[in-house]
Amino acid sequence: MVRLHDHTFVPFIGQEKIQQRVRELGAELNARFAGKNPLFIGILNGAFIFAADLVRTFEGPCEISFVKLSSYSGLRSVGDVRQVLGLETRVEGRHVVLIEDILDTGRTLHFLVNDLLAQAPATVSIAAFLRKPTATQFPVQADWIGFDIEDRFVVGYGLDYDGLGRNLPAIYVLEQDR
Ligand code: IMP
Ligand code: MG
Repeated sequence: MVRLHDHTFVPFIGQEKIQQRVRELGAELNARFAGKNPLFIGILNGAFIFAADLVRTFEGPCEISFVKLSSYSGLRSVGDVRQVLGLETRVEGRHVVLIEDILDTGRTLHFLVNDLLAQAPATVSIAAFLRKPTATQFPVQADWIGFDIEDRFVVGYGLDYDGLGRNLPAIYVLEQDR
């Protein structure tokens, strides 16, 4: 188990299971976007590891960019989504694939998708590593999901608890939630 700040986290999804699932998602992305030069947009900070693993499964030409948004503080979602760091790449006419760590309420992606659609991309699709049942609160259609999980607080593989835990190579869950 792992101690982060005032909480204990226990193993939830192992490294090999994660890597296997990423390869499966990669196969689907390769089939879907072969020869299309997709623009992958990772959502910082949480998606940086998933994005790094996922784009390395893509075999054709593609571009990778990042945006930074935030709607979270501590263990729960709060307030509005703020776009902290804007996108520098033009998305007009592009096949955009958003890469997110976890789809919780859907607020983050709902906000970002609307923003992107206004810039006339060819397509916008979503790859989220995790999805919680709460993901129905905002209308967001995810195209690729790594794992559907229960409504528990998790860390690791890019996900943090108040800044800690992103470097853990596997997913851990808050102990009292187990
Ligand atoms: P949404 O906008 O409510 O869908 O929240 C998505 C964001 O909340 C994710 O990108 C994460 O940064 C954060 N988040 C949601 N659930 C968790 C969790 O269980 N652990 C860590 N971060 C989470
Ligand atoms: Mg995030």
